[in-house]
Amino acid sequence: MGNKVALVTGGTGGIGSAICRELANQGFTVVAGYNSGGNHEKAQKWKAEQAKEGFDIDVAYGDVSDADSAEACVNGVLEKHGSIDVLVNNAGITRDSTFRKMTLEQWDEVMNANLRSVFNMTRLCINPMLESKWGRVINISSVNGQKGQFGQTNYAAAKAGMHGFTKSLAQEVAAKGITVNTVSPGYVLTSMVAAIGDEILEKIASTIPVGRLGAPEEIAHAVAYLSSEPAAFITGSNLAINGGQHMF
Ligand code: CAA
Repeated sequence: MGNKVALVTGGTGGIGSAICRELANQGFTVVAGYNSGGNHEKAQKWKAEQAKEGFDIDVAYGDVSDADSAEACVNGVLEKHGSIDVLVNNAGITRDSTFRKMTLEQWDEVMNANLRSVFNMTRLCINPMLESKWGRVINISSVNGQKGQFGQTNYAAAKAGMHGFTKSLAQEVAAKGITVNTVSPGYVLTSMVAAIGDEILEKIASTIPVGRLGAPEEIAHAVAYLSSEPAAFITGSNLAINGGQHMF
């Protein structure tokens, strides 16, 4: 992809790492945004591991739920790499709880990290994309934003919110060479999913027609395609990748 630059938030996580590697395979200059509670050493270790496997991926610190921190992150990437042509809003957290036990903090943390983050990051990247008349914004939502999930009123609300954001922004920038799409992974084998108790996870897995959890790479390939030139006519869409768990 010539000298195009991709910024993947939550880039050092399970799905994020796979997206970074696949975009690097496609020739993008890739920057993995990370928060990791400010653990810069962990991110440097991740970068070194990628390099060992032949992936030259940069890392950039930023708390995407915080507007100032997001701005510092984006400005740093623009200064160092010159542009952000592909923005993958992938960073996300869970604070699962039944609604009657959910605290305001659990609600706010999830809304801020999963949805406010999309505003924080996209508003900084969209103007340079409009100027260059090319861009890709890809929001990583979840099957649970569409079907809902016991214990996830906060997460499902935030992930559902991404669809409205995607479809609205897609209309605003479609004529300027920028596409905005959502990818909705189902249950993918990452530490986030592994944190669900074994018994509950087994029950969930039994509802997936394909008969297994997804692999991060299966999400990454779709993101790479949406980032590509041939995907220029796909905008405002949602790509569900959930092993048939939810069809609509
Ligand atoms: N449907 C209906 N009832 C259910 C239920 C379900 N799926 N799961 C539990 N219950 C019932 C229990 O049987 C129990 O009933 P009784 O009180 O009659 O015994 C009751 O609900 C338990 O309620 P509690 O409030 O005490 O729940 P808890 O504190 O034990 O656990 C929970 C709640 C933490 C949300 C737990 O159910 C859980 O971890 N669920 C999984 C949530 C999940 O799928 N998260 C996805 C994370 S991965 C991800 O988010 C990535 C992605 O995008 C896919």
